[in-house]
Amino acid sequence: MIPVFEPVVGEEEVQAVVAALRRGEVSGSFGTAIPEFEEGFARFCGVRHAVAVSSGTAALHIAVAAAGIGAGDEVLVSASTNIATALAAVHNGAVPVPVDSEAETWNLDLDLLEGLITPRTRAIIPVHLYGHPVDMDRLMEIAGRRRLAVIEDCAESHGATCRGRMTGSFGRMGCFSFYANKVITTGEGGMVVTDDDALAERLRLLRNLAFTKPRFRHELAGYNFRMTGYQAAMGAVQLRRIGQVVAAKRQLAHTYNACLEGIPGLRRPFEAPWARSVYWMYAVVVEPEFGLGRDELMRRLGADGIETRTFFCPMNQQPCLARVPGFRPSACPVADRLWETGLYLPSSHTLSAEEVRWIADRVRAARQAP
Ligand SMILES: Cc1ncc(COP(=O)(O)O)c(C=O)c1O
Repeated sequence: MIPVFEPVVGEEEVQAVVAALRRGEVSGSFGTAIPEFEEGFARFCGVRHAVAVSSGTAALHIAVAAAGIGAGDEVLVSASTNIATALAAVHNGAVPVPVDSEAETWNLDLDLLEGLITPRTRAIIPVHLYGHPVDMDRLMEIAGRRRLAVIEDCAESHGATCRGRMTGSFGRMGCFSFYANKVITTGEGGMVVTDDDALAERLRLLRNLAFTKPRFRHELAGYNFRMTGYQAAMGAVQLRRIGQVVAAKRQLAHTYNACLEGIPGLRRPFEAPWARSVYWMYAVVVEPEFGLGRDELMRRLGADGIETRTFFCPMNQQPCLARVPGFRPSACPVADRLWETGLYLPSSHTLSAEEVRWIADRVRAARQAP
């Protein structure tokens, strides 16, 4: 079976983790590996601070907390996203408000934002879905005018740019994931980046149970969201290769694009002229002219040994959110449709051009088979 994604962990990562363990960097409280990874990642994003945490979910959770968002507040979130985006609001006592997707980039539809803002709205969490950036210049203009905090969900967009500027560097904070299938990985892990010195300090405090002085007396209710030292050591090695990974992912997408060209009803990913997508996953949408439903295509590809995955179930349809007091989603017909018709194909950046061509051939064959 060709998996949708396979992490690439080399001998250098193994050596770095072993060296960190030998230095005693077992937990997340001591040593040099964490600050080194944080400094490297901040430099990569072009921001002043990066705060390493235990997952992308933890990064979003702590970012919402650090922004002072809580009970009675509303947070606009992309409808088509991983549940972690909305849960960052929920676990802070706030209510997520899904914003429907736009049909081209599948990111949140900026034309809908203002209509969803209420006196309770405090923040927007845009998601750079599947590695394609949101138009952050436009979003920041709206957020600035309406005095809303922006927390970018960059879990899928390490290295993606909007008019040449890195995702994660536009909002008050940017949140990254280093889960196994992400652009770079530490196994589990995450990062919050920010240019704001005071926020960075607050994030560091909150991730570490808000330890201050005297030790064991706590003013703030913090979290243990620490990354371990040996994970950071692995992350630093992965970060050195991120340029190559992004280039390989873009090449993979270009090969898929060429091989899948001209198939009626198969919508390939779009890249806006102002955007550099990192194609975290190579995602396609199956329209009626394809002549075969999305689920049947997935079944046929699975029978050929090709693993695929559907798009996200949108936030307006999530049973766990329906039980959140005050949750009143408006209709999200585009995100609903993407959930029914979208899928992503194997996207490991180590796939050869031959393998991609073969997968594309199987997509064509699935359509033509009786
Ligand atoms: C858009 C998005 N946000 C948040 C997360 C959560 O990250 P993690 O799995 O590291 O908690 C993910 C993926 O896993 C994601 O795709």
